[in-house]
Amino acid sequence: MKKTEGFIKDLFDRISPRYDLFNTASTFFLDRYWRKCASRTVEKEDAKILDVCTGTGELALQFAARLNGKGQVVGVDFSKGMLELARKKLKRLGKEEKILLLMGQAEHLSFQEGVFDYVTSGFSMRNLIDLDQGLREMVRVLKSGGHAVILEINRPSNHVSGLFYRCYLKGVVPIIGFLTCGRLYPFLYLNNSVIGFQTPAEFCGRLRSAGFRQVSFRALPPGAIGLYDAVK
Ligand SMILES: C[S@@+](CC[C@H](N)C(=O)[O-])C[C@H]1O[C@@H](n2cnc3c(N)ncnc32)[C@H](O)[C@@H]1O
Repeated sequence: MKKTEGFIKDLFDRISPRYDLFNTASTFFLDRYWRKCASRTVEKEDAKILDVCTGTGELALQFAARLNGKGQVVGVDFSKGMLELARKKLKRLGKEEKILLLMGQAEHLSFQEGVFDYVTSGFSMRNLIDLDQGLREMVRVLKSGGHAVILEINRPSNHVSGLFYRCYLKGVVPIIGFLTCGRLYPFLYLNNSVIGFQTPAEFCGRLRSAGFRQVSFRALPPGAIGLYDAVK
């Protein structure tokens, strides 16, 4: 499975109709809690927020809930299928005014420099074809002092808990994926993308190299998810 733009787009287009169900089932509803933790980092109610790789808009919705009438969220993704789902969801929830959805690529954002107070991203960094370029783009579109708030699955460690987590990723997640989406290969890719991703220390280093001057990391319960807060 070679990670190309076409492969990633196609994968998310295919699983988009059941993506939310898969997330909820495979995390035992914890994904909502993790997104809420990320959204609590927002302190400005009139903030301009960009959600990169917004998918079906779940993280964008959590952030939008923190804003007043002057705040705005823009969600960008390159999968037509995921964006269609997000659009339907926003319409159903009456949130179309609050969240603007655009098709676009994380590595080449179509915004001017320094326009957003926050750039957010949920569970997507390990899918980027060019991670460093994606992070540099986040820095570019942020205002000085703006925050990148990123949720990502931690790479399993080599300890006993890591072994359990590896078994869960390789054994249980593909089964849940197959039962919810009727396909196996996307979940084999997703698991390999977690195992092949960076440790929190390495990812913090990549954030600094991209141009963030202050980077913090916290593991969210039960420990498998990292919440990164990086300041421009
Ligand atoms: C695992 S989903 C996460 C969706 C959402 N952020 C969430 O929290 O559920 C990853 C998303 O990233 C998108 N994506 C991956 N690489 C991308 C890229 N280079 N540019 C734009 N979107 C990308 C995919 O289409 C998919 O919707």
